Amino acid sequence: MSNEKLQERLKDSRVLVTGGAGFLGSEVVRQLSSFGASVTVLDDLSSGKGEYVGGLANVKLVRGDVCDTDIVARIVKDHEFLIHMAALPFIPDSYYYPDRFFRVNTTGTLTVMWEAIKAECVRRAVHISTSEVYGSAKYVPMDEDHPTLPQSTYAVSKLAADRAVFTMHKEHNFPAVIIRPFNAYGPNLTQPYIVPEIALQLLTSNGHIRLGNIESSRDFTYVSDTARGMIAALVAEKAIGETINLGSGRATKIKELAFIMASILGKKVAIEVDASRLRPYDVDTLACDNRKALKLLNWKPEIPLEEGLRKTLEWISKSKISFKLPFRGWPATYYRNLSYKP
Ligand SMILES: NC(=O)c1ccc[n+]([C@@H]2O[C@H](COP(=O)([O-])OP(=O)(O)OC[C@H]3O[C@@H](n4cnc5c(N)ncnc54)[C@H](O)[C@@H]3O)[C@@H](O)[C@H]2O)c1
Repeated sequence: MSNEKLQERLKDSRVLVTGGAGFLGSEVVRQLSSFGASVTVLDDLSSGKGEYVGGLANVKLVRGDVCDTDIVARIVKDHEFLIHMAALPFIPDSYYYPDRFFRVNTTGTLTVMWEAIKAECVRRAVHISTSEVYGSAKYVPMDEDHPTLPQSTYAVSKLAADRAVFTMHKEHNFPAVIIRPFNAYGPNLTQPYIVPEIALQLLTSNGHIRLGNIESSRDFTYVSDTARGMIAALVAEKAIGETINLGSGRATKIKELAFIMASILGKKVAIEVDASRLRPYDVDTLACDNRKALKLLNWKPEIPLEEGLRKTLEWISKSKISFKLPFRGWPATYYRNLSYKP
């Protein structure tokens, strides 16, 4: 769907974006603001940053928890559109904080959707799920009928939310759409995902980097493309009740990703596989079949991987990013801080 069409449909509308101060959320909010929508961001700023949405026209940030029924009920009632993307998204954290992941990702979603249903003002709700609900590819590319066999506690918490939104849509005739994005990357990162991980290592070394499973493949989609698809789901006529993938359609091995990023930076890369970085029960391959998004949302990715990575590396080089839990290997670091030792 073209930006002109989105602007025509969303100008002067009131949109609530949960998690809108985060990586993907801030791009969604930036685009909505540029279309002339009035946007309320509900975010507890646990990983999101106020400055990512500060200064945007007609954007109001409310700091709050999506599990807080009172605040959600108070805010949702003034909005005709809702994009729900507040979540704990970093898979390795879910190994150690499973209850928190279910509280925010699953119960938080039930709270937001139920209050939106009761408010009777929301004309369209877009729930942001994830490609991780599929687990490793049984076939490629992966369409929306691919079996859902999640391989992390994060993915299970997201799948529970994804299916609950679908059943709530059926039970209450609630106009909801479920979007399953594949791996997004770009500026305004908040989590130590693989792209910033490789970038930070490349930028601070002579090219010798340490990674986990470099043979696994992911479908990397530039953040502005992913965000535009999420927004299109707010207005596309035939999207209600549908589950729709958003991904570039190109699967890239992690080692290939590192080579492309190193060549953009003009560095020679030597990758050492660090066994302590291998994730348990890791997903081997995610590769998106995006034909349904083209059909229902008129959505196609526009930014090729090399161009998107160049923009991302520029942003990372300029920004002083740091993550709350910098990656130092899984078990030893995390278990030390837990009272329960698995
Ligand atoms: N980044 C990806 O590649 C990707 C891929 C598939 C799906 N997703 C989904 O997209 C959404 C956004 O992910 P992201 O990568 O931008 O991560 P992010 O951490 O930047 O965004 C999550 C946002 O939610 C907020 N938040 C967390 N807990 C909250 C709570 N209890 N109440 C209110 N706000 C809360 C955070 O502060 C943050 O701003 C998530 O739902 C994630 O599951 C992301």
